[in-house]
Amino acid sequence: MSSSSQRYALYAAIIIIIIPAAALAYSLQRQAGVPETTTPPTTTPMEATPGKPSKISFYTWWAGLERFAIDALIGNFTEKTGIQVEKTAVPGGAGVNAKFAIIALIMAGKPPAAFQVHCGPEIISYFVAAPNGADDFVDLTSVANEIDISKTAPGQACMLSGKFYSLPVNLHRANLIFMNKHVLDKYGVKPPTTLDELLDAAETLKENGVPAMVQAGADQFTVLHLWEQIFLAVGGPEKFVKFMYGTLDPNDPALKEATDIFLDLVDTFPSNWASLDWTSAVDVVVKGNGAFHVDGDWAVGLIYNVYPDTVMCPIDNITPDCDIIVAPFPGTQGIYNMVIDAVAVPKGPEQEAGVEFAKFFASREGQRIFNPLKGSIADYPDIPVDIYPTNIQKWEVEQYKASTSQVFSLTHGALFSDVWQKLLQGAVVLAQTKAEDLWYQTLSEALASERSQWEKSGYIMGTPESPFAGYKPPWSS
Ligand code: GAL
Repeated sequence: MSSSSQRYALYAAIIIIIIPAAALAYSLQRQAGVPETTTPPTTTPMEATPGKPSKISFYTWWAGLERFAIDALIGNFTEKTGIQVEKTAVPGGAGVNAKFAIIALIMAGKPPAAFQVHCGPEIISYFVAAPNGADDFVDLTSVANEIDISKTAPGQACMLSGKFYSLPVNLHRANLIFMNKHVLDKYGVKPPTTLDELLDAAETLKENGVPAMVQAGADQFTVLHLWEQIFLAVGGPEKFVKFMYGTLDPNDPALKEATDIFLDLVDTFPSNWASLDWTSAVDVVVKGNGAFHVDGDWAVGLIYNVYPDTVMCPIDNITPDCDIIVAPFPGTQGIYNMVIDAVAVPKGPEQEAGVEFAKFFASREGQRIFNPLKGSIADYPDIPVDIYPTNIQKWEVEQYKASTSQVFSLTHGALFSDVWQKLLQGAVVLAQTKAEDLWYQTLSEALASERSQWEKSGYIMGTPESPFAGYKPPWSS
């Protein structure tokens, strides 16, 4: 079988397996009383413009405890335009179910009007699934220019060979560690700033019977997310960018070093880690039943929205009332591991309304509504920091400005979807079985597949004149 037919076979399997599972999870969630995810507009909607659909669908994984920011955004959009947005939520952090549900719809020729995607090669996986490739998606470059997003640094990073196939709506940071200050104080542990300090702290906590590192196996992504941050700390940004393009040597020693450290930390996971999802892992740490959680700043949004009495503080300003200290993952100070959520619009009868939605979402106005509740920061540098309800977001604006390098998160957008899925599963299996050889095999295959898919696509991140991170992959010249 050719590699593309293997991919199609994978996607077909996903249609059969994942979508019913996602639908089941969603219906269980509804039975469990989780409120409907779409917030109605706060005032009576205006009449929709004649000729435009009055209702469109937006596919997303922002459901359950992660719904607040998107619901506020949709409510405001409907109020402004009269277009109702039906939020079709396929739960599962990081899009573990949603991404494949969208691919299946695209393959079936029934794409949603708009869908959530990350900046990065992830979107090329949708092109591969579509009958006419990238031509099946609206080229949003002129809209990006109209709303100035193309002038922002995160916007420029998001371009695929100079074009926008999705519009960025925020800037999340993946290389963060959340630490329960009370737990650290109780055992005399100083907030770690290096990998050695982190390993020492984890050992001390483990000896005292406290789960040190609380990652989650049920929605898989925080396990790979942890490995990724260790690899970033060990290998640095250049090797990281090469990983994204698949041009890194699979025998690079940083891969082994990162894996060894990862396995040391796995030994300090709580015994029920495999049944936790990311929101329950955050809950463990907020409640002091574990010390550390490594995640992106969507956890800031979760804590802000769901635990209003919990005080977060950045590591360089630990106040006496602080409950949760937020810091760059040890060894990655000065690096911004970017996760940029974006909206893409397939061509079709609803495309005009879909573009209007994406344009509003990515605009200054949309980003001012969305980001405060999401835990992320806006892409526009001229948006004042006083819009953010948490001091962590204000600190992140400064951290981003001061960062000396930026990379795209491997777990959130910087990998093709099939490669990503294999690595997600591989990291969980590694944590469960400690079978390192199998993991190195998976890494090696992942790098090869990543490289060949990039090469085949011909794209690069950024523009040919100004490639992302200053790195030109071999196929770009
Ligand atoms: C990321 C996404 C974030 C957040 C997180 C947890 O992939 O970019 O916005 O949704 O997953 O679900």
